[in-house]
Amino acid sequence: MAKTAGVLSTVAFTTAGLPPAAIAAKKAKEVVEVVETVDNTRNFLAAGAVLFAGATAMKLTGGEKAQDFLEADPYYDQSAVPVNVYKNKSPFTGKVVSTKRIVGPKATGETCHIVIDHKGDFPYWEGQSWGVIPPGTREKDGKPHAVRLYSIASSRYGDDMTGNTGSLCVRRATYWCPELKADDPAKKGICSNFLCDTQPGDEVMMTGPAGKVMLMPEEDPTTDYIMVATGTGIAPFRGFIRRLFFEKTPAAKAYKGQAWLFLGVANSDALLYDDEFQEAKSNYPDNFRLDYALSREQENKKGGKMYIQDKVEEYSDEIFNKLDSGAHMYFCGLKGMMPGIQDMLKGVCESKGLDYDEYIKGLKKSGQW
Ligand SMILES: Cc1cc2nc3c(=O)[nH]c(=O)nc-3n(C[C@H](O)[C@H](O)[C@H](O)COP(=O)(O)OP(=O)(O)OC[C@H]3O[C@@H](n4cnc5c(N)ncnc54)[C@H](O)[C@@H]3O)c2cc1C
Ligand SMILES: NC(=O)c1ccc[n+]([C@@H]2O[C@H](COP(=O)([O-])OP(=O)(O)OC[C@H]3O[C@@H](n4cnc5c(N)ncnc54)[C@H](OP(=O)(O)O)[C@@H]3O)[C@@H](O)[C@H]2O)c1
Repeated sequence: MAKTAGVLSTVAFTTAGLPPAAIAAKKAKEVVEVVETVDNTRNFLAAGAVLFAGATAMKLTGGEKAQDFLEADPYYDQSAVPVNVYKNKSPFTGKVVSTKRIVGPKATGETCHIVIDHKGDFPYWEGQSWGVIPPGTREKDGKPHAVRLYSIASSRYGDDMTGNTGSLCVRRATYWCPELKADDPAKKGICSNFLCDTQPGDEVMMTGPAGKVMLMPEEDPTTDYIMVATGTGIAPFRGFIRRLFFEKTPAAKAYKGQAWLFLGVANSDALLYDDEFQEAKSNYPDNFRLDYALSREQENKKGGKMYIQDKVEEYSDEIFNKLDSGAHMYFCGLKGMMPGIQDMLKGVCESKGLDYDEYIKGLKKSGQW
């Protein structure tokens, strides 16, 4: 059931055990962080390497040295993945390296890519989250703000490949007041606005790294990944894709499977990291596949908004077959996408004469869902 902990955390995220702010965020928008997985065989490589410092380009080219200074031994061994090293009462202080808006002018809302320097003292694995404690105190009781979680959007090496930074992909939470018919700044999201307004050198109080359910099962380098994201739910998958296609780690070198990314955003201006994904597609056409759902530019077959579940449905048989052959399926973003995905799989099960509930139960039982 390890992998289905993601599903549980989805439930947790939408219900109990959360700081009030997270509950508020949940109320504002249902969110899901799910890991669904089918089969995984285990087997890996290792490689000698050195720190590759100072690389600004995302892509490493032929002559450069491999990297493994942040790898486990063997590199797929997840027994020592760091979890909750820094807690709310003794947070880590990171420093902002850069904060950049990464969506175009016609995007709905603002999303920023924020690079944070941790000097190598806050290691994490792809798929983990950092907590951020926004500065200041709560108006209602004068207590410090609660921690908010953000999926880490870089690989463990950071965008600069030094192992000293991590990146976040943050959507600025605004509050649309129906009476004012405008954004009400008094009700804007505390932490996302703090992060999106940061300047280089600003300090960020951080906790974590949190979570192990979104880790990549790297033991079998032929594993197929199906990653389904809405909006900033892209964050962990950007980390995955960098690890698989932009680095010279043992994991990247070994990877022979196919990673398939489905991303749903409002329009083309709201696409996130498209340049990187196009580069991965062009460099690894057999190993990386990319599908977008642009809800406000495209229509689904019923003439409604093209949501990501509609795009996934277009490939239902293929996805079912991939799952059947051991693919791992991940979801991150809005919870609203899930019923459509589940209905899609149910339909395929029915067309194959399989009992969907039994099918899912079987996957869960074997730790595959
Ligand atoms: C595991 C996990 C990973 C996540 N990863 C990411 C990520 O990678 N990127 C990302 O952007 N987010 C991510 N989130 C969401 C993130 O944690 C925050 O919930 C989000 O940024 C909003 O926090 P905030 O402090 O800005 O808003 P809060 O201050 O907590 O407010 C929440 C919402 O309530 C609204 N609000 C405030 N006051 C009122 C009021 N009086 N009446 C009505 N509404 C009000 C705000 O406008 C806002 O929309 C993740 C969440 C989880 C659980
Ligand atoms: N758990 C995690 O690890 C994690 C990580 C990152 C982000 N998140 C959360 O994920 C959410 C992503 O939000 P965002 O603001 O970045 O996204 P967004 O921009 O509000 O939405 C992204 C896309 O999803 C579409 N959408 C809306 N309702 C949908 C539904 N029911 N089914 C499928 N698609 C739907 C939107 O379409 P329209 O706007 O056109 O309707 C848009 O095209 C946030 O709430 C964030 O907190 C969670």
